[in-house]
Amino acid sequence: MTSAVPTAAGTGPVQDPPLNMCGPDFPFAYDRYLEHPAGLGQIPAERLGTEVAVIGGGLSGIVTAYELMKMGLRPVVYEADRIGGRLRTERFPGVDEEEVVAEMGAMRFPPSSTAFWHYVDRVGLRTEPFPNPLAPTTPSTVVDLKGESHYATTLADLPEVYREVARAWERTLEDGAQHSRMQRAIRERDVATQKEIWNELVEKLDNQTFYGFLCDSPAFASFRHREIFGQVGFGTGGWDTDFPNSILEILRVTYTGADDDHMGIIGGVQQLPQRLWEDAPDKLVHWAQGTTLAKLHADGPRPAVTALRRTAAKGSAAGNITVTDASGSTRTYAAAVFTAQSWMMLSKVDCDESLLPIDHWTAIERTHYMESSKLFVPVDRPFWKDKDPETGRDVMSMTLTDRMTRGTYLLEGPDPDGPAAICMSYTWCDDSLKWLPLSPNERLEVMLASLAKVYPGVDVRSHITGDPVTVSWEDEPYFMGAFKANLPGHYRYQRRLFTHFAQDSLSEEYRGLFLAGDDVSWTAGWAEGAVQTALNAVWGVMHHLGGATDPTNPGPGDEFDELAPVALPE
Ligand code: ARG
Repeated sequence: MTSAVPTAAGTGPVQDPPLNMCGPDFPFAYDRYLEHPAGLGQIPAERLGTEVAVIGGGLSGIVTAYELMKMGLRPVVYEADRIGGRLRTERFPGVDEEEVVAEMGAMRFPPSSTAFWHYVDRVGLRTEPFPNPLAPTTPSTVVDLKGESHYATTLADLPEVYREVARAWERTLEDGAQHSRMQRAIRERDVATQKEIWNELVEKLDNQTFYGFLCDSPAFASFRHREIFGQVGFGTGGWDTDFPNSILEILRVTYTGADDDHMGIIGGVQQLPQRLWEDAPDKLVHWAQGTTLAKLHADGPRPAVTALRRTAAKGSAAGNITVTDASGSTRTYAAAVFTAQSWMMLSKVDCDESLLPIDHWTAIERTHYMESSKLFVPVDRPFWKDKDPETGRDVMSMTLTDRMTRGTYLLEGPDPDGPAAICMSYTWCDDSLKWLPLSPNERLEVMLASLAKVYPGVDVRSHITGDPVTVSWEDEPYFMGAFKANLPGHYRYQRRLFTHFAQDSLSEEYRGLFLAGDDVSWTAGWAEGAVQTALNAVWGVMHHLGGATDPTNPGPGDEFDELAPVALPE
């Protein structure tokens, strides 16, 4: 059990099939689609080699481009910054150890993100358990609230009130959201039961916040319990910054085990998109064996997209999506996949309104993104494992606190006496905005002051060997935020964006542009959503160009009518 306050997630009997992140909104088995020997689909011979624009070189864009290439199309990737998007791994200047890195974006991945792991396995990356609060491999955890610190290696070490909170959360999920029944249905890939439970809850809870859902539960009648829960939370802890969000967003996380049993990628997760860029698929159509995305982009990805237009005649084979980039070059495509943060289409990219129906524009305008900041420092060694002579405890621990830092993660390197790193602080929303105007060194000073209150006897500063590396995603020009989180009443917007790839129901003038990325998915803030929506877009492009899947391996669009997310009355 990894949870500070455990949920039912991940606790099923061992013989249970594992959880996956394919449900409950659109329970398509992306992982099985990927594993199937028939592949993702076929393009008609006369369309082989057709260029398709892929806007954004994050995980979603790279997976899209990789799969389109395997099908025999020619992806043209546009990337404003660097390949990887929010899979961004930074090295510390002066630290030679390649396994000591700072994961500025995604850093921990649940086993249930099965489509994501498909690609990790493909490129052969190594993993290790991520040091989350109270995870079995995390040496120790300190929970510090209202000036009181508690040292724990398991939940049983914390004061009774923490277990009360854990039980209250389990009760609330069970009574308000049929939690174990839904998890069983997800494990068993029982679509009918997932739909039966979820369709009713979507209707009932779309207007409800996470906090309101807690308040409605008799198990959370106590304000103190709600407050402690908010600060320690479930899974990775500290979810109170999500209190104003739709409870549906939280249920998606807990049902699918998305916040449980996290693994990290040794050497950094940015290697995943980078390796896919260089990877020569075993099986590919049209292109010579050995073809890679890198080889198809001899000069690297094209630069930032500056304009997107609908041009030329409807249904013209040459296509009607015209892309202009920062070099001034303009090219027209038969299809394009937009994987960047959706707000880019409102500001950085000059877009024709005719690209999308008006209701989709509303959905993009209303989409809510969370802020998020992190700061890392390199240290001389994992000194936190030194023992306090008086107590015999680790001198410092993974730390959850209501102080400015909120979450502090201790990151060992391969050498038990060699370089290591600390993620001094990882925050969301208001807690992230508190850092925004501070310089990296000002941030570090405040963090050191917070930690000095929790660990008065520890001189953290004396172990720091280099400058801090920090990010606030809301301040990054090509991101404007860290991840989407629906507010109450946003289900309809989310549904429009997610289902946009199934374009047979769209009038013809709106076809050919596809949206992908974790912000279009049902699990924003998890790489799995980037992969799933990439696969939707790949299916959409294939279908748009007259292609089809093998009947033994239907794709997300083939099963759309059966699996489509429930539609609420407009
Ligand atoms: N998966 C990310 C993490 O492990 C955070 C995503 C959180 N999403 C949210 N709505 N708070 O830190």
